[in-house]
Amino acid sequence: MNTCKKFMIRVDNAICRRLIDAADEIKDKKICGQSLVKYVPSVFRDDKNGIGSTGSQSTSYVILKRIFSHVELKEEDNFIDVGCGKGRVLAYLIDQKCPCSLHGIEINPESGKIAVEWTKKYDNVTVEIGDAFLIDYDRYSVLFLGRPFLPKTFLSFIEKLESTVTHPITFIYWVDQQSGYLLKDRPGWNMQFREVLRRINGIRIAYCPQSYSVWTYKPKKTV
Ligand SMILES: C[S@@+](CC[C@H](N)C(=O)[O-])C[C@H]1O[C@@H](n2cnc3c(N)ncnc32)[C@H](O)[C@@H]1O
Repeated sequence: MNTCKKFMIRVDNAICRRLIDAADEIKDKKICGQSLVKYVPSVFRDDKNGIGSTGSQSTSYVILKRIFSHVELKEEDNFIDVGCGKGRVLAYLIDQKCPCSLHGIEINPESGKIAVEWTKKYDNVTVEIGDAFLIDYDRYSVLFLGRPFLPKTFLSFIEKLESTVTHPITFIYWVDQQSGYLLKDRPGWNMQFREVLRRINGIRIAYCPQSYSVWTYKPKKTV
């Protein structure tokens, strides 16, 4: 790609980012009483070795609307956002009057405290500040991951999940392009849907296309 084209994409991306953030901020304030737009850097990240966590960038409402159009949450479900940041995914689901219980876990106290604080007023929502590797996933039926981990850490997480879950789960992976392939051909995992997003309603959603996939995981020994 030539320099001029790259420059045009950068400008387009910067303008679209501002538009998306402005729209998100209005929704955040309505649902959470505060903006969740601010980026919070990672607590630990080693890109060279593919280990650690990403920073907390909230997923935009337009993207969440698109992703959740492929997932039906029922009253009996138990949903968790693994690495919930400031709680944008929970905010989206609250706004959609999602009928099931909603949970979030976040390792970074700076982001986690924000999510804990604003979710207090909602009965069906809980947020914990802690390490996603230390909780029991057998309690949950639907997991959302907005690329919380670098690839090697993601693989360790999947291994942990497989060793603890005893019932079928739905697994939603947003920004799966770096490590989503690790789920392919793993026993028990089936991809239900995948989409590469460039623009939504004509608005560029990121500098590079971003993709998400919806999976089901059925453990061998299903209870
Ligand atoms: C890109 S943000 C996504 C935030 C939110 N899920 C969303 O989509 O709006 C990823 C988050 O995962 C968190 N995270 C990374 N590793 C974690 C871990 N081991 N336990 C809990 N949270 C973690 C990061 O601190 C970061 O806030």
